Amino acid sequence: MATWVLHYLLVAFLITITYSIDAASAGITRHYTFHIQLKNITRLCKTKTIVAVNGKFPGPKVTAREGDNLQIKVVNHVSNNISIHWHGIRQLRSAWADGPSYVTQCPIQTGQSYVYNFTIIGQRGTLWWHAHIQWMRATVYGPLIILPKLHQPYPFPKPYKQVPIIFGEWFNADPLAVIQQALQTGAGPNASDAHTFNGLPGPLYNCSTKDTYKLAVKPGKTYLLRLINAALDDELFFTIANHTLTVVEADASYVKPFQTNIVLLGPGQTTNVLLKTKPIHPNATFYMLARPYFTGQGTIDNTTVAGILKYHHKPTSNHFNSSKNLPVIKPSLPPINSTSYAANFTKMFRSLANSRFPANVPKTVDKKFFFAVGLGTNPCPKNQTCQGPTNTTKFAASINNVSFILPNTTSLLQSYFSGMSKKVFTTNFPSAPVFPFNYTGVPPNNTMVSRGTKVVVLKYNTTVELVLQGTSILGIEAHPIHLHGYNFYVVGQGFGNFDPTRDPKQYNLVDPVERNTINVPSGGWVAIRFLADNPGVWFMHCHIEIHLSWGLTMAWVVLDGDRPNQKLPPPPSDFPKC
Ligand code: C2O
Repeated sequence: MATWVLHYLLVAFLITITYSIDAASAGITRHYTFHIQLKNITRLCKTKTIVAVNGKFPGPKVTAREGDNLQIKVVNHVSNNISIHWHGIRQLRSAWADGPSYVTQCPIQTGQSYVYNFTIIGQRGTLWWHAHIQWMRATVYGPLIILPKLHQPYPFPKPYKQVPIIFGEWFNADPLAVIQQALQTGAGPNASDAHTFNGLPGPLYNCSTKDTYKLAVKPGKTYLLRLINAALDDELFFTIANHTLTVVEADASYVKPFQTNIVLLGPGQTTNVLLKTKPIHPNATFYMLARPYFTGQGTIDNTTVAGILKYHHKPTSNHFNSSKNLPVIKPSLPPINSTSYAANFTKMFRSLANSRFPANVPKTVDKKFFFAVGLGTNPCPKNQTCQGPTNTTKFAASINNVSFILPNTTSLLQSYFSGMSKKVFTTNFPSAPVFPFNYTGVPPNNTMVSRGTKVVVLKYNTTVELVLQGTSILGIEAHPIHLHGYNFYVVGQGFGNFDPTRDPKQYNLVDPVERNTINVPSGGWVAIRFLADNPGVWFMHCHIEIHLSWGLTMAWVVLDGDRPNQKLPPPPSDFPKC
């Protein structure tokens, strides 16, 4: 046989193999190594040392396809202990790879490493990864992009290019010192100094013009912007001057496309938008801006990050068109406390709910929960003056008045799995407030929280409905609540107190959006449903990092099912030691 025939046969053979692997939906294994190292970096005219991954800030982009297995080796070269969370990954029967410190694992100690090993099942879209211990995620974060399986199209026009834009929050101080001081004094944390796009603050800050994120586009094309809010504490409005955005996905779930000029993302949330560029060169450049949405009482960083959208020139264009001389068009954003904009925007999200991407929202509910989420206080230790709401109190936060305390010598999951949980947590997390009150009315006189390590235990395959009710204690404020290990459906939301007879009648059980992080509206409530089909211990918390630090979190223990494929396997052999 001639070699070309052999060659032809080989190629045909390989194509067949590749095709059958794809058809059988098996993915490939992708390996990454994350070296956690120190890095010197200059922002806002100040040079400092940060913890970073592989010398990059923001950290490296992880790309995989739906169905792929990821094996990410994290090697800790710094003096802090660390763990990495793959935010939004369902971790089906791989809870050991979820990453929150003292929840599913003890952190990776200095000089140690751990391979996060998980398979991406039934998900495609934009997610991200971040450190999950204290405030390390201020600089340890990056995009996690899940492409559809090979040859599977997007449910929207194929973009010409796709670009992750990850929003961050920059501190001139050491973020670990900021949170340490806040917890010490009981005060709100010092605000950050800048917001960033892909780590860059941009021209509206001191000496940062050279640190500006620029997106160069061609006319007449469609770009997919993968927006990720990795800020520690700030919800952010985002807009591009003179351009309309089409929202097509949220938290790695497709949504019915809708148009908007302004996108709002709470910390932890991701949103994919299509940007259709002008058909011909507009002879202008355009600011993209992000700035907080905030209704709370404290002081926050209300500064604005700007990036630049600029158009490539045709090769024929002349010098007059050099973008330096082009006018910069500036957009406007809603007022910082625009809860009405936030509410209307949130209502636009609907899942596709078609045969390819059905909305499997539980139609019946086995267990109902009502969680009041908000701020509160802890007493100031004797012989100390505090800087909480009063000088005898510290700020705290809670769910159903339980301010969560993490264990510090083991993780919840390890203690559960080894049958040693009795010393670590109790299973009496209240399914509703023990002392109900007018949640959004005049707050009660006693704002003290209780402290504890309490969980809810769910049987495998329980259908859960959870109403998250914001409170007005120490001011109404939005809370982007994130659930690990699951997506949930957002079946209802509203302002004021949830009404258990009136409000469920309005639930959307047809095409509710599927997410992993949802805002409890400022002064309102949101209702979610999910099917507890993933065994393990799953953290649920406000993704505003200071609220998490104050205890606005809890955990669900989801028991194994009866069948072998409904059980959590034992931890891997390199699992970090406590
Ligand atoms: Cu993105 Cu528990 O967090």
